[in-house]
Amino acid sequence: MQTPSGHPVDPAPGVRLVVLASGGGSNLAALLSAHDDAAYGARVVGVVSDKPDAGALDLARDAGVASVAVAPGEFPDRGAWNAGLAEAVEVFRPDWVVLAGFMRILAPEFLARFPGRVVNTHPALLPSFPGAHGVRDALAYGVRVTGCTVHVVDDGVDTGPIVAQAAVPVLDGDDEASLHERIKVAERSLLVETVGRVAREGLRVDGRRTSLG
Ligand code: GRF
Repeated sequence: MQTPSGHPVDPAPGVRLVVLASGGGSNLAALLSAHDDAAYGARVVGVVSDKPDAGALDLARDAGVASVAVAPGEFPDRGAWNAGLAEAVEVFRPDWVVLAGFMRILAPEFLARFPGRVVNTHPALLPSFPGAHGVRDALAYGVRVTGCTVHVVDDGVDTGPIVAQAAVPVLDGDDEASLHERIKVAERSLLVETVGRVAREGLRVDGRRTSLG
């Protein structure tokens, strides 16, 4: 495990977000663009990745946000990695943990450390097309409308209560890359808006139903 690149405990006021990301981090970038405005009400205080070379870690460094990689290969098994990941996240004292393109399944033991406080963005209209290939699977099925979903994370794969969704049309001639790029435009807006509202207004979960405010 690398040491955090910045001070691990950002004392800034507001709701504290820790973002977990595995990839380029365009969703993280959108959150980082929003959080400097005090009216947004939430701040990214830490970024954690499972991949030491994730672009998301570079984005965090450039924004002056503390970041750390917790690579599974550095742990003897999945349980130990989940425990190491939870410790790395807990250092930042998050109010909410935001999975923004984090491509691993979190164990129940991880989620129990942040009960009801982990949200994920998924590039399909759940409950259709869960899993790692939501865009590809929607395209292969032949749907004419797909989209993105922000949901609370539970022990299943993309099965937790839905907080917000946005629809994106599938265009003739779309391939996985072109469709995913259009979904990601909608996804960034939805994630920033939804996380901001969750932070400012609070989120209630009643079974499968959620409400903001
Ligand atoms: C997003 O579409 C996310 O939902 C999916 O992977 C993509 C990550 O994009 N799981 P980025 O790394 O935020 O650019």
